[in-house]
Amino acid sequence: MKTILGIIGSPRKLGNCEIAVKAVSRAVHEPHILKLLRIADFDIRPCRGCYACLFRKGECVIPDDLPRIWEAVLGADALVVAAPTYFLGPNASLKHLLDRGLSLLPHIEGMWGKPAVGIGIAGIPEKEGYTRLGIESFLKLLMTEIKGCEIFYSALPGEISLEKDHEPRLSILANALFGPALNPKSSVCPVCGGDTFRFMEDGRIRCMLCSNPGTFDMKDGRLVFEIRPGGHEMFLSRESAVRHREWLKGMKDRFLKQKNQLKKISVEYLKDGTWIQPPEKNNKGHAS
Ligand SMILES: Cc1cc2nc3c(=O)[nH]c(=O)nc-3n(C[C@H](O)[C@H](O)[C@H](O)COP(=O)(O)O)c2cc1C
Repeated sequence: MKTILGIIGSPRKLGNCEIAVKAVSRAVHEPHILKLLRIADFDIRPCRGCYACLFRKGECVIPDDLPRIWEAVLGADALVVAAPTYFLGPNASLKHLLDRGLSLLPHIEGMWGKPAVGIGIAGIPEKEGYTRLGIESFLKLLMTEIKGCEIFYSALPGEISLEKDHEPRLSILANALFGPALNPKSSVCPVCGGDTFRFMEDGRIRCMLCSNPGTFDMKDGRLVFEIRPGGHEMFLSRESAVRHREWLKGMKDRFLKQKNQLKKISVEYLKDGTWIQPPEKNNKGHAS
């Protein structure tokens, strides 16, 4: 029996993200159990950027709910991730969790290549901004194999069930989860499948998902991207992910060598400016 983990980016209970994930699960033919995780229910604090987890088998120094989440992710056979668009991007929940992702790098071997589909929900047609890019970055950096990622337009909680083509589109995503990946409808990066590009001053483009540069052309009325993998890949192969992890670990030696010199430079800025402090909290956690 497979385990599908549904990661819900929306804080709204029985909102469109939650319903979409459950609809995908209902349409998956393989026998499975659906586990659900709403990111907003968990106490996840910001990454401190200390890199300690890389040297502690992924154990973070911050005592919060992160281990429970990674345990669920590691234990899943497949992921279905849904996030609402907030202000032209996926709401912060995915990024907030992803920022703690260094602690997953010691688990590359157990994580690599889980099938995953992404769902972005936007309330206003064509106003999803970079939601798809954000969800795909989350899925790539969680080392999954993206089988499909789709945007749905629904504003009110539950509205996703009203639109006629939504159910079949969710079923197509469900079939892709353990089957062949969806064919992209638009022109995408041939290296990673990303569909968002930066147009550079030198006339070249760069894929915003895999960060690789290239060129573009029109062929038979269709935009064609020529992108080549460059150096320092993070998630294009398991080996590249391992290389990235080892490179990050090597930064510790680099830091130790340069520590005194760096401190001398930075300490000169110590006294600049006046810090605004958060209000003091009483023992109920409220500002006093
Ligand atoms: C703070 C906030 C910002 C939003 N910004 C956008 C937006 O930029 N574009 C858009 O299309 N919808 C936007 N929406 C609408 C939501 O994407 C939409 O209501 C969606 O259905 C929410 O998913 P949920 O039901 O799973 O919570 C916003 C909603 C909220 C609460």
